[in-house]
Amino acid sequence: MAKRDQICLEARGLTKVFGFGRNRTVAVDHVDLTLYEGEVVSIVGESGSGKTTLAKILLGLINETEGEVYFQGKKRDIRSYRRKQEYWKNIQAIFQDPFSSYNIFNKIDTVLLDCIHMRGGRGLPHAQKVEMMAEACRFVNLKFEELTNKYPFELSGGQMQRLMIARIFLLKPKILVADEPTSMIDACSRATILDMLMQLRNEIGMTVIFITHDIGLAYYVSDTVYIMERGRFVESGSADKVILTPSHPYTKRLISDVPKIYEEWDLSTV
Ligand SMILES: Nc1ncnc2c1ncn2[C@@H]1O[C@H](COP(=O)(O)OP(=O)(O)O)[C@@H](O)[C@H]1O
Ligand SMILES: [Mg+2]
Repeated sequence: MAKRDQICLEARGLTKVFGFGRNRTVAVDHVDLTLYEGEVVSIVGESGSGKTTLAKILLGLINETEGEVYFQGKKRDIRSYRRKQEYWKNIQAIFQDPFSSYNIFNKIDTVLLDCIHMRGGRGLPHAQKVEMMAEACRFVNLKFEELTNKYPFELSGGQMQRLMIARIFLLKPKILVADEPTSMIDACSRATILDMLMQLRNEIGMTVIFITHDIGLAYYVSDTVYIMERGRFVESGSADKVILTPSHPYTKRLISDVPKIYEEWDLSTV
């Protein structure tokens, strides 16, 4: 999809320091990021490069040590829990580990019902809520009738990630942060999950921050790519520019770690 010109989220000088003294880690180090409405941005880096920490700051799950986040042109203020909840109507996440994403005491219909309530649907007739939940399940190829009395941990990893996508279908956030959403599920579910994510993105016009260690995946899904090494962005630009003509040695190394990458790509269009 073509890049739009409206900025939806912006980070300036974002920094996160964990620990003190010898245990001090600068996980995110003066990062600048501009996210345009409707685009898919990938953040690519090896394990430990700071991707999840950055994602958590953008989501408002942890506080930055330094720097600012602007949402739709205004400096983000999420100091109170109420403001955080307002912010979370706009930005949602799918995490790497589907098992950690659910409250284990909540049945699946509760998980989905909460999403409808979060969007102000508490007063809707019960039958309409059921139809909304069923529609979300159909979108991800799950059968709502078979799930109502189950707990998320009774599902497979792939099914749980699909349930996460069904949540996003109901929540319709402006921004989705997908942090390695396919790295803990089996290879054959992986393509399905990615397909569903991209379909959902087209369906509700979301802006997506896609986090991955797999630069090949980033090429397939994104308009813009940021390469992250030890807390910093070392290279960024359009996916074509960064991945087909990398200039930073770290980017080149990430690409050379995927030996078949150029063979699989259709370079005739470049
Ligand atoms: N809560 C924490 N306390 C201390 N160090 C942390 C914490 N979370 C992450 N780190 C450290 O910050 C660095 C970046 O981690 P992370 O953001 O998880 O990277 P990635 O998602 O790219 O693998 C790592 O060195 C990690 O050990
Ligand atoms: Mg991570």
